[in-house]
Amino acid sequence: MIRQLVFATNNLNKTKEVRSLLAGQYEVLNLQDIGCTTDIPETADSFAGNAGLKSRFVVDNYQLDCFADDSGLEVEALNNEPGIYSARYAGERGDAANLDLVLQKMEGQQNRAARFRTVVSLIQNGEEFLFEGLIQGTLRESRTGENGFGYDPIFQPDGYEVTFAEMDMEQKNKISHRAIAMHKLIAFLKEQAV
Ligand code: IMP
Repeated sequence: MIRQLVFATNNLNKTKEVRSLLAGQYEVLNLQDIGCTTDIPETADSFAGNAGLKSRFVVDNYQLDCFADDSGLEVEALNNEPGIYSARYAGERGDAANLDLVLQKMEGQQNRAARFRTVVSLIQNGEEFLFEGLIQGTLRESRTGENGFGYDPIFQPDGYEVTFAEMDMEQKNKISHRAIAMHKLIAFLKEQAV
């Protein structure tokens, strides 16, 4: 029998990607599929804490196994800001304003090292498992590229001459923080399914 598993997200692209990776082994439902319209509070002080709040919310309220992810950009010279505040670094003014604020704070800064981090929390039979993905890179001084979202136009992963926003989705998805964490999760789940 195929097991059900909730991915605590409203993002259809993320859902589709994980669904195809687990096809035949797990039926992956997202928040919409289970009728969850609650804006789950992300009030913890770490990526792991916030991912755990989301997966725990679904487990407690829907009695289904669940996983959730939380991601962000950590800039070394800014004491790892924006970190868990990545989506609202400049308040509620959106991705472009968040990116501008990082560029402004980094003006004249020599140390441009930064990394994207994702933590996935899986709760299965009441037990939590965490999976992490990291990608190191440097911050450009201005935007380059049109693809992706968030801080992609200023993030150049180590070993590449282009920003995330100059990569197509397929290329970014091979190396991104989110892909690394998700692949660890998928490998773990596939082991469970045999
Ligand atoms: P989430 O937890 O995946 O929703 O990510 C939170 C925030 O981190 C996003 O709103 C972006 O600002 C930033 N972020 C996370 N992943 C990426 C990425 O792959 N590229 C650019 N920005 C990202």
